[in-house]
Amino acid sequence: MSTTNYIGKAPSRVDGPAKVTGAATYAAEYNVPGLTYGWVVSSPIAKGKITKIHADEVLVLPGVLQVFSHENVPSLAWFDRSYKDQVAPGGSPFRPLHDNEIKFSQQPVALIVAENFELARYAASVLRIEYEAAPHETNLETKRQEGFEPGRGKTGYMPPPPPRGNPDKAWEEAAHRMEAEYVHGTQHHNPMELFATTVEYHANGKITAYDKTQGVYNVQAYLTKIFGLSKDNCRVVNEYMGGGFGSGLRPQYQVFLAVLAALELKRSVRVTLTRQQMFSFGHRPHTLQYLKLATNPDGTLAAVQHHALHETSQFEDYTENVVNWSGMLYQCDNVKLGYQLAKLDVYTPLDMRAPGAATGSIGLEVAMDEMAYAAGLDPLEFRLRNYAEKDQNMNKPFSSKKLRDCYHQGAAKFGWDKRTQEPRSMRDADGKLVGWGIGGGAWDASQMKSAAKATITADGKLLVLSASGENGTGTYTIMTQIAAETLGLPLEAVTFRLGDTDQPEAPLQGGSWTAASVGTAVKNTCEALGEKLLKLAQKMEGSPLKNANFEDVEFVNGQIRLRTDANQAVVLRDVLQASGEAKIEVDGSAMPNMVKQMPYSMHSHNMVFAEVKVDEDLGTVHVTRVLNAVAAGRILNQKTARSQVLGSVVWGISMALMEETVMDHKFGRYMNHNYAEYHVPVNADIHDIDVIFVEEEDDIVNPLGVKGIGEVGMLGVAAAIANAVFHATGKRVRDLPIMIDKLL
Ligand code: MOS
Repeated sequence: MSTTNYIGKAPSRVDGPAKVTGAATYAAEYNVPGLTYGWVVSSPIAKGKITKIHADEVLVLPGVLQVFSHENVPSLAWFDRSYKDQVAPGGSPFRPLHDNEIKFSQQPVALIVAENFELARYAASVLRIEYEAAPHETNLETKRQEGFEPGRGKTGYMPPPPPRGNPDKAWEEAAHRMEAEYVHGTQHHNPMELFATTVEYHANGKITAYDKTQGVYNVQAYLTKIFGLSKDNCRVVNEYMGGGFGSGLRPQYQVFLAVLAALELKRSVRVTLTRQQMFSFGHRPHTLQYLKLATNPDGTLAAVQHHALHETSQFEDYTENVVNWSGMLYQCDNVKLGYQLAKLDVYTPLDMRAPGAATGSIGLEVAMDEMAYAAGLDPLEFRLRNYAEKDQNMNKPFSSKKLRDCYHQGAAKFGWDKRTQEPRSMRDADGKLVGWGIGGGAWDASQMKSAAKATITADGKLLVLSASGENGTGTYTIMTQIAAETLGLPLEAVTFRLGDTDQPEAPLQGGSWTAASVGTAVKNTCEALGEKLLKLAQKMEGSPLKNANFEDVEFVNGQIRLRTDANQAVVLRDVLQASGEAKIEVDGSAMPNMVKQMPYSMHSHNMVFAEVKVDEDLGTVHVTRVLNAVAAGRILNQKTARSQVLGSVVWGISMALMEETVMDHKFGRYMNHNYAEYHVPVNADIHDIDVIFVEEEDDIVNPLGVKGIGEVGMLGVAAAIANAVFHATGKRVRDLPIMIDKLL
């Protein structure tokens, strides 16, 4: 007999058919009558002023409706100084078209709106704008001496913990030491879907913004603040996303421009950015890391020192957690961590999948490999000798941590015991050098306040709403599973909808917190609906559940039944029929249980085992095998969770070997701002990827026991590959990506 227990199983994506048949509608695909089209004009200079815009020359073109720029932008409320979008760093958010000042290359300087797309694009190509350029600086190398610590207490900043022990003395006096610098270039998110907003202008002056965003409420707050709209007049919708990776966490300038134009022209407007323009609003920052590690004769860590410097813009102090992990991942009593920013004439960096940890884990995990070699230890054995039983940064135990099982299960499946330690000691049958390396990391298990609404109708169909997001992670599917299991309904009877400010508020889809946050809200809301249904069931004549408390019953296979006696049951649909109600509806929400969580450090962990094969003559590296062993609490859906980790591994391969946004400092502009020259892996680059989930029981993180899977899978992948390249070749490349020229 089929069961309605779905959590932990592997159902396929409920939104899959809509996506592959084209029925899923993306931001730039909402067709509304009378739509006009906006084309963004971007600054060719990195710093300076606009001195003249020859708008008149294009306004004469029939069908060009307006050229919006700082010269004619209406007086806007903008935000008062206290306004921050939900993930804004310290500083002052960029205000498009605010004045004639240029702060970064590709800054939007005008929006041309026309009756059709081609005309807007043509007008932009002939629009003459005069600039007065000023000297710019975009090279982090020039700012090594100008790093500053961001203001403590500034939005989102997690300062490193104070030093512990005596890290300098311990390093000097240790048996074995290493020190090295690791360099990580700029990267851009590059989701497949371009950023776009379609604003539908309604006859009553209300607007609906179909916007590419990871947080519809975040965008609504931004728009209402700037344009002085009431929430009722400003609906924001995003039901599908072709990849986000953090690029949609903050409101981007195309939504501002599209709404501005719609309100001014009283017309519906669509603004779509080009692939090149996708490089103009946030990136993983260029980062320099310096690490010093030392060990005692028994292979335990004597000292850990980790310092990072990365770029930010002139107007905001973007921060991410690069170094704090180094005080937590391994047991060590002498630790010093430092973190600094340097201001450049670039746009503010932006959270990009596993922000901070993705880069920090490269520094720490490559340094750990170097240290293991210096100490004459197998890299895995070295990590086992330094296993952290508690979080020393916070001086708290972990709510759960099965990383040791990740080590053991991963090593067994990968065949780690067949590895020979000496670099260049392993070759395949074709004579290629073979290298095996490891790397891992940790990510925060967080929960944010979330709300949901559940409605069940007389036909037994359940609709659950929460304004969360789906950037390809599986949100629709896991929420459907949770709702179906909580009320004992078949998956097909449940519809979950998200991404609309008409729905109850959910947090940004980011931080790997959606499953924990929205999942718990969905569970609570469906349980509240279940309580109502039980009361109705008890009113039925001869109900076998008359004296049952909610805790005494379970919802399974379309029935409410006694836990102690499955035969004492009522059919849910009969309850609904008997109630005479057309529908039953409840609102619910979930908050983290701070009292329960406070004594613990809550994290997911992973360990990656990678194999590379290197052709010595050509310098080519192939990542032939990757095994990612992940401990992230309870896995809600084996298939979507595995897909998350597969995607993470692909991106890790990219970080290690291919991906970098190259700045031409003469122009202060990113030069490879397209898919041809911004290299990412293709099918031929991807070989065997395997995933192990070491499940953890953890009722501290949240009632579902889920820690989130979106980011942890990326950690240590690039480090494991870099370490494998060293093992294969004996060359230690500390400047990623490892391209052919660095190996020959
Ligand atoms: Mo993620 S970088 O929080 O979208």
